Amino acid sequence: MALLNILRYPDPRLHKVAKHVTVFDARLQKLVADMAETMYEAPGVGLAASQVDVHECIVVIDTSDTHDQLLVLINPEIIAASTEKIVWEEGCLSVPGIYDGVERHVEVTVRAQNVKGEHFELAADGLLAVCIQHEMDHLLGKVFVEYLSPLKRNRIKAKMQKEERALEREASGRPFPKSRR
Ligand code: NI
Repeated sequence: MALLNILRYPDPRLHKVAKHVTVFDARLQKLVADMAETMYEAPGVGLAASQVDVHECIVVIDTSDTHDQLLVLINPEIIAASTEKIVWEEGCLSVPGIYDGVERHVEVTVRAQNVKGEHFELAADGLLAVCIQHEMDHLLGKVFVEYLSPLKRNRIKAKMQKEERALEREASGRPFPKSRR
């Protein structure tokens, strides 16, 4: 397994729309395992393939306290959503250090495939429902900060770009490139 590099907002590659997965093979299994390892190591509760520059409809999630309830959603689609909504304080591994409220459906039912290509349905609420909606947005090229006001978004963008330049300076001063940023 390997840790994957997580793209940071406002990297334009985060806005690519992911393609449907059609081949369920060893390559997909390895990618899912690497995504899970990258998410746990970060640490985070969810990661979409878009965030590691793979533009395919793949999401890994684990909202458990024990970090042993890995949920893999391939080609997920929301087939039902509650009309009731909730504002949840969200964060994202592609926008480290930024947390803000986004309105989401309280409950969603998702239909997806597992790593073997088998279809299943899952009804979720609370953090898991929010997480599913957040990660599925990534597959459409949408990052949660795009729900915020233009003023907030521009501030976040400027902060991220400043951090990115600092990281680049730091990296250039080292004899070996860092494996992760
Ligand atoms: Ni995210």
